[in-house]
Amino acid sequence: MSTAPEIFDTLSYGPAPEEAGAVRAWLAAHADGFPLFIGGEWRPSRQQSPRIPCFSPASGERLSSLTQSCAEDIDAAVECAQSAFPAWSRSGSARARVLYALGRLIQKHSRFFAVLESLDNGKPIRETRDLDVPLAARHFTYHAGWAQLIGRELPDHEPLGVVGQIIPWNFPLLMLAWKIAPALAAGNCVVLKPAEDTSLTALFFASLCADAGVPPGVVNILTGDGKAGELIVAHPGIAKIAFTGSTEVGRLIRRATAGTGKSLTLELGGKSPFVVLEDADFDAAVEGLVDAIWFNQGQVCCAGSRLIVEESVLDTLVRKIKTRLSHIRIGNPLDKSIDMGALISPHQRQRVQGFVEQAQAQGATVWQPQIALPQQGAFFPPTLLTDVSTSNVVWREEIFGPVLAVTSFRTLEEAVELSNNTRYGLAATLYTENINRALELAVKLKAGVVWINTTNQLDAACGFGGVRESGFGREGGLEGMLDYLRERDAWRDGPEDDAAGNGPSDKSLAAASASARSSPVLAETAAVEAPPEAIDRTFKHYIGGKQCRPDGGSSYPVTDTRGRTLGWAASGNRKDIRDAVEAAFLAARWAAATAHLRSQILFYIAENLALRREEFAVRLGRLTGRKASRSRGEVDMAIARLFAYGGWADKYDGLVHTPPVRNIALAVPEPIGVVGVICPDEDPLLGFVSLLAPVIAMGNRCVIVPSERMPLPALDLCQVLETSDVPAGVVNIVTGEREALAETLALHDQVDCVWYFGSKQGSARVEERAAASVKRTWVSHGRRRDWMSVQHGEGRTFLRQATQIKNIWLPHGDSV
Ligand code: NAI
Repeated sequence: MSTAPEIFDTLSYGPAPEEAGAVRAWLAAHADGFPLFIGGEWRPSRQQSPRIPCFSPASGERLSSLTQSCAEDIDAAVECAQSAFPAWSRSGSARARVLYALGRLIQKHSRFFAVLESLDNGKPIRETRDLDVPLAARHFTYHAGWAQLIGRELPDHEPLGVVGQIIPWNFPLLMLAWKIAPALAAGNCVVLKPAEDTSLTALFFASLCADAGVPPGVVNILTGDGKAGELIVAHPGIAKIAFTGSTEVGRLIRRATAGTGKSLTLELGGKSPFVVLEDADFDAAVEGLVDAIWFNQGQVCCAGSRLIVEESVLDTLVRKIKTRLSHIRIGNPLDKSIDMGALISPHQRQRVQGFVEQAQAQGATVWQPQIALPQQGAFFPPTLLTDVSTSNVVWREEIFGPVLAVTSFRTLEEAVELSNNTRYGLAATLYTENINRALELAVKLKAGVVWINTTNQLDAACGFGGVRESGFGREGGLEGMLDYLRERDAWRDGPEDDAAGNGPSDKSLAAASASARSSPVLAETAAVEAPPEAIDRTFKHYIGGKQCRPDGGSSYPVTDTRGRTLGWAASGNRKDIRDAVEAAFLAARWAAATAHLRSQILFYIAENLALRREEFAVRLGRLTGRKASRSRGEVDMAIARLFAYGGWADKYDGLVHTPPVRNIALAVPEPIGVVGVICPDEDPLLGFVSLLAPVIAMGNRCVIVPSERMPLPALDLCQVLETSDVPAGVVNIVTGEREALAETLALHDQVDCVWYFGSKQGSARVEERAAASVKRTWVSHGRRRDWMSVQHGEGRTFLRQATQIKNIWLPHGDSV
């Protein structure tokens, strides 16, 4: 029997070009260039700007030209989208029919799309025909289903309005589908800007919208470069920005949207590990690698660009990779037997070449197969870099080209460390025949998606997106839908109620008190006498399970509504926050605690708080000047809330997706890590508990800053935490000036997420500071939630904000 390389040697391929006549005729009809698609019509720009030429990267041939959108064009598109929104958002069934029709039209024109995409982008027709186009159609049909079901499945949610979407050049049609399909299904209208290098399939898609029954204004396609993108980001009529592209631009967009109240999802770069253990099926792993890093010429955000191999099999694997690469065919993307096409542009080729040269200068060994490259066009050979140290630029930076960097490991711990030693966290691939090792690694790797014995699998039903500097938010699946919706009526406008900002009404507090008192735990304590109040107590921070003196040594007085000092709270500074973050960081084992254990601990905190109900109520009353019934109501609701999250801790499970390939994907909600929490001033105990409980219920550790004005109830709670088996470092409480502490948390690299419940300006500052490390944030923008409400003060929204979904793909089922 022949071995695989011998078979390759005996085969030879003639050219098999795809027929491109229809696409060329369409391009010829637009030889003068394309206008903009606004309000269902083709319109020229309102301002004369130089046109953007479109070139085929494989041949350098000029295909057409694009319009550079100006501010007035974007105004017009947003206006049309706003006008279309009320009718479009009304009927899910009507939207379902339109989305389904779009999916069908993509299928009907699949060959046209595939050819046009290959011409414009340089990627092989095999990929556009077999992956980009079918997956784009699948996104529309999948989301047609959501449009139909959304009213029933997510009745508490509503669409956002007009969504601005900015996409890159590596998967032009597919990224359009990923963006437009869920946005429309949710009932939003969109203004989408394709990448300036690859806008043609988006323009062809626009030409199909009327046939699919898309009402004018629901979809607007505006071409242009980054300046047009900036204008979309800055437009006040836009409620959300969804961006895919480089981390640098993602960071700029985070800054530009800070404090505007716009929702934001960012799908950014990656430096994904591809881990091969010694017991892997090597041939499968090598084929996986071809799909991981040489697919789309390596211009893939989730490309497996760092190969991490168990040392004992490094040489074997490298030899097999070299053999396989020597048989890769590079050439005309329209040729059906071509494996690799051209990079997006000569500029990108230069950039990739620059990385390879730098890698070599930093000690890497470069290997490229001796295969023919076309003379013209932006082609680059598949490249293997060995002897790569972790400080080498190619180990750290996203290259976005067909370049694989290789290193080896000896222990599983080392594999995890190498994999996670990156600022990114988009995807990871594992090859091993040992299910135990596979699942152990899958849990430990910091990534939004993990593929086991498969790679680069994508489907509309499975959320895709990253952690760390790979961005936040998910595209696809339920989590992707939720990113295009908001809760109905969950927020109220800024400070209202009494002068002290005490929040909810007497009526809701009394009701909560009555219902909480009927619980068995509270019935026992209802008659407890209020203990005498100790005046002038001095509180410390609570860090790593201990009371700690503030670094600066100073405290500030906490007064009642008549200005009498009730106690002194520590004035925290940056050093205190650093210590608290360190303690939280070291308490990482909490993430691995069972949900059952977390649930038990939350019940225990509730029980211990219930034992001191009257004492807390009296102190709250003194602090806030409220009636006793109001204070009792707040304590009772805090107890009920802890019970609620004790309940949720082992019930907020993931999902199992069944994409239409031989895999299942486990969508697992994971803790985010260290969460910085800035509490609101209203309801000083309940606000604190309402934020603390979901964060720790989901396995996060936190550094929590209580109400600056009324921190004493939270500090009293330390004693409750101490007696409730909460492990040291899981909850760290730092008091002091809220805004300064929030800023320090937002800037801290070891803080993974910040929740901020405070002013508008403070929210803007947190979002802006968080941009440096592309940190996830949840801010109130000066609005409030009704903590006394079970509907708005607790539940799935909080749990969602306290978790990130990791999709773990596994081979599954029959191959037939
Ligand atoms: P880019 O991030 O600059 O472009 C992506 C999109 O953002 C394009 O539509 C562009 O017009 C738009 N854009 C650019 N500047 C903007 C701004 N200030 N505000 C709003 N929109 C803006 O990516 P580029 O320059 O095309 O590629 C550079 C590098 O970025 C690549 O070599 C690669 O490393 C990385 N990249 C990563 C992608 C991913 O999916 N992770 C996709 C594309 C690029």
